[in-house]
Amino acid sequence: MHISASILAADTMDLGGAVRAAEAGGAHSIHVDVMDGHYVANLAFGPKVVVDLRRVTNLPVHAHLEVDNPDRCIDLYGAADLIIVQEDTCPDLAATVARIRATGAGAGVAVNPDRPVEPLLPLLERIDLLLLMAVWPGFGGQPFDSSVLTKAGWAWEQRRARGFAYAIGLDGGVGPSTVGPAAHAGVDFFISGTGVFAVDPGMAPAATIAANVVRLQDLATLHRRPG
Ligand code: DX5
Ligand code: ZN
Repeated sequence: MHISASILAADTMDLGGAVRAAEAGGAHSIHVDVMDGHYVANLAFGPKVVVDLRRVTNLPVHAHLEVDNPDRCIDLYGAADLIIVQEDTCPDLAATVARIRATGAGAGVAVNPDRPVEPLLPLLERIDLLLLMAVWPGFGGQPFDSSVLTKAGWAWEQRRARGFAYAIGLDGGVGPSTVGPAAHAGVDFFISGTGVFAVDPGMAPAATIAANVVRLQDLATLHRRPG
């Protein structure tokens, strides 16, 4: 079960410390949300953050492009190990996936809460991550939309029936109360921001972040869908 720590919720004044703490807790990757103030209202990280993260962690770094016209900027994120695009931003998704692969990165495709996942079927054999959004892109800390569980079940069945290899990802609202049902439905790749990096005042940040990752990992493993 893959746990990816989304730095959107991390203390940007101690990003290195936050990432090291997530790594110490056993996180499998670092998730970097790229936001353009247009596709989403929020603004977040750019390519330099992806590059600079290499100095503080050995973990894979993933870039999640929550931007309009990602085709224009994919090459800027070629230092990432995985590049994720929002399917509704790509007029020719197959071409976008090929463009991502040409950088050497793995390819992920994300589906918003109001969008069906079935039209992606012809592409599923070509991607590394099918990312189901349980919140609207743009902000951390939003409530979890449980309709994503039906999509996860569908993705799991398709993968088993057709022998595909993509990971089934979940982004948004991932925390102790949602990991179990999601794992049970078939999710095996969890992206968490608030659930990893939110630290109450008075708590030791590094120890709390590491413990958060351990807890998510334990719950995901406990509820893993067999088969
Ligand atoms: C939302 C981002 C998520 C965000 C999730 O647009 O794609 O990666 O960090 O935040 P939480 O885990 O707080 O819902
Ligand atoms: Zn994200």
